[in-house]
Amino acid sequence: MSGALAGKRIVLGVSGGIAAYKAIDLARQLTLLGAEVQAVLTRSALAFVQPLSFEVLTGRTPISRMFPIEGASHPGDMPHISLTGHADLVVVAPATANLIGKFAGGIGDDFLSTLLLSARPPALVAPAMNPRMWASPAVQENVRKLKERGHFVMEPGVGRMARAEEGEGSGRMPEPEAILAEVLRFLAPPHDLAGMRLVVSAGPTRERWDAVRYLTNRSSGKMGYALAAAAAARGAEVTLVSGPAGLPGPPGLRTMRVESAAEMREAVLAAWKDAHAGIMAAAVSDYRPARATVHKQKKKEGPLTLTLERTADILAEMGKKKGKRLLVGFAAETGDLTKNAKDKLRRKGLDLIVANRVAGEEDAMGADSATAVLIRAGGKEEHFPRLRKDALASAILDRLAEMWQKVKSTE
Ligand SMILES: Cc1cc2nc3c(=O)[nH]c(=O)nc-3n(C[C@H](O)[C@H](O)[C@H](O)COP(=O)(O)O)c2cc1C
Repeated sequence: MSGALAGKRIVLGVSGGIAAYKAIDLARQLTLLGAEVQAVLTRSALAFVQPLSFEVLTGRTPISRMFPIEGASHPGDMPHISLTGHADLVVVAPATANLIGKFAGGIGDDFLSTLLLSARPPALVAPAMNPRMWASPAVQENVRKLKERGHFVMEPGVGRMARAEEGEGSGRMPEPEAILAEVLRFLAPPHDLAGMRLVVSAGPTRERWDAVRYLTNRSSGKMGYALAAAAAARGAEVTLVSGPAGLPGPPGLRTMRVESAAEMREAVLAAWKDAHAGIMAAAVSDYRPARATVHKQKKKEGPLTLTLERTADILAEMGKKKGKRLLVGFAAETGDLTKNAKDKLRRKGLDLIVANRVAGEEDAMGADSATAVLIRAGGKEEHFPRLRKDALASAILDRLAEMWQKVKSTE
């Protein structure tokens, strides 16, 4: 079968809400685009829809029971594990409040919830429920947990509910077309950065003061690597300049390894010369020891004083002669997330700044997720909840792609 989703394996989980009938149309549309769809229905879903509809449309028998092990062709098969192992994407539509709660709480008491325990993020979740259920603190807390783990929970639709007495509000399942658009975004990423030469910096720097000792910081490089990999998948020609991060170079792009702030400056400025855009996610040391010795310094009695000097400000240098090129910076903040970041955005001539919290429970440094505020040169602020860094990377690149289209349209 040809189509945008040809060869893609999708597990479509359907839980027991009135919107389950819309999942039939979603299964049809996914199949028409070439996807191999395996429907998994909860017991409650069976009260709303017939498995036969899914079977006819997808050509596969839906699974709805854990025992006897459905979907297994041999004794000992464990389809609740093998299905997610082979799936390109797990979609849950509609996702009831109950299912969301079980997913967030790690409960596996039926086939769908057990399967979700082994689903790699991101699973795509389309909630559907009464507006008061959606607004409940329990559901909101569970949604937040899923987002933090890198799953993609769609915003439910606003409008009239299934029954007039339920009134209007937020809780309707997103329409199958909107879900399909998200599936396409995950499985057939847009090539909206094609033609862009992009330089990304990542990781910490090391500033040596003798043969074996150096000053550094807690940056892991995960944010910059996620940005570089995602930008390459979206068609950009990426040069990743990485400090000592200990991460493997992402496929499909050029990774240049550097150690000190001075080396990072040299590599970044060389790549910046003929780049269209730069994302500076590295935590470059602001200071380095004024003197570094080639030998190992012997310990002596009493305190040791190291004199530090400023390193060059790479971002400011890039911003100075920016022209039409797009420049994105990061600000690591321990206090007010936006105040200092706005200042930095202006001082360094950036188009966009990503302010990350780097203290307390929300600390982004070294973690897999981050709490961020994105601020544009025009002053527009977008506050994000704590998200996995690949999800945050995708949001940052959406904004970069939008700015890139604007730049291209004025050329
Ligand atoms: C007529 C009817 C409609 C329902 N619609 C929804 C709904 O839209 N969303 C929801 O979260 N629960 C809804 N429920 C409640 C769920 O079916 C119930 O919580 C069930 O335990 C969910 O099981 P599951 O998550 O395993 O599918 C509805 C129940 C009934 C009787």
